[in-house]
Amino acid sequence: MSQIIKGFSKLSREEKTEILKKHFQLPENFSEILETFRHPEQQELFDDFSENTLSNFYLPFGVAPNFLIDDKMYVVPMVVEESSVVAAASRAASFWAKNGGFKTTIHNTLKKGHIWFKWDGLKSFFEKLPQGLEEMLRKAVAPLTANMEKRGGGIRTIEIIPLEGEYGIFQLQIGFETADSMGANFINSCLEEMKEPLKEFFNTNKDFKQYGDTEIIMAILSNYTTECLVTTSVECPIEALSEYSAGLKPAEFAQKFKQAIDIALSDTSRAVTHNKGIFNGTDAVVIATGNDFRAAEAAGHAWAAKDGKYRSLSSCEITDNARFRMKLTLPLALGTVGGLTRLHPMAALALEMLGNPTASELMGIAAAAGLANNFSAVASLVTTGIQKGHMKLHLSNLLKSLNATEEEQKAAMEHFKNETVSALKVKEFLKR
Ligand code: MEV
Repeated sequence: MSQIIKGFSKLSREEKTEILKKHFQLPENFSEILETFRHPEQQELFDDFSENTLSNFYLPFGVAPNFLIDDKMYVVPMVVEESSVVAAASRAASFWAKNGGFKTTIHNTLKKGHIWFKWDGLKSFFEKLPQGLEEMLRKAVAPLTANMEKRGGGIRTIEIIPLEGEYGIFQLQIGFETADSMGANFINSCLEEMKEPLKEFFNTNKDFKQYGDTEIIMAILSNYTTECLVTTSVECPIEALSEYSAGLKPAEFAQKFKQAIDIALSDTSRAVTHNKGIFNGTDAVVIATGNDFRAAEAAGHAWAAKDGKYRSLSSCEITDNARFRMKLTLPLALGTVGGLTRLHPMAALALEMLGNPTASELMGIAAAAGLANNFSAVASLVTTGIQKGHMKLHLSNLLKSLNATEEEQKAAMEHFKNETVSALKVKEFLKR
């Protein structure tokens, strides 16, 4: 198909499906499949979340109970398609609940946004903010910030920073507190509202004008939320690790575990997989609560590379008094109001299940889920490997993909209770 489809978004849903069928080789029952997954009562709501919506894409909404976080017990909703993630999180949560639980530190919750502009003057002009600029900018967005201020948020910092290594390009950097919302819309609205007044301010001020006109390049929040940072940590006596050490002496297990984490702290190839294991848990909570997982991932990975080399986000320590400690620090700009958090019925339910947490509490919960999955994954890697547990959980997916009957599925589940699962072995079993 090389023809461009014009005005696609303006077509009705039925017209869209018809035109797709005409232009692409699609299954006969294309429309039926789409129809099957539409919500019988609330489809309009889902249609409005996005553009060109034809149907819904289901993912499992699961829960990991027994998450003891800052002395409060949570059942953590997780949306993820990888079969072992919820199981791994649940097992780690139960283990750590018996060993003091997860402890959270919120370092800060400030988010930043930038107006990038071109101006041919000297950097030294901006060592201090030009007089009158802050007042003018605040006034320009007062109608937008008034409500946020009532909720405890608003503009906290304003500064101008030259672009590193470039002449004549600057950022007006604004620090925002956004209360319990993630705040992306609020921040971007404020920034866009400030663009014109900022230009006007420079272009009508003779000190600046003598170097030529100021030109606005763009205005946008930064997803690199290094000042919206959470640490979660766990700690137990090494002896307690026997539950996870799969026959190894707990001290040996702890040493191997630490080595695995240290490898991820030094080697980028390993660090990426290691951090993926963290985001298995973190993203599942971020998605379940209607938050933006792309923003969380982008910030997390940039943070992992903050010293110029991509490293593990978690670390591990074995203390002189035989204690095992693990900690995870990552930026997580999350919201518990606004955006999809209350609009999506399942996200609203997830937040209710968590006791309607504040945004800071949710940062701690998502980070704890990340650390739980990381702990489980590394514990498996340094003992039995991950495939044993993973393939057991994947068995039912395999059976379904091989069109096994219900009876065959039951028999296979029984057979593979004490057998290692592999696609080949499952195929052979079904043949027999
Ligand atoms: C799989 O989804 C995640 C792991 O690869 C993470 C890790 O290697 O640490 C098991």
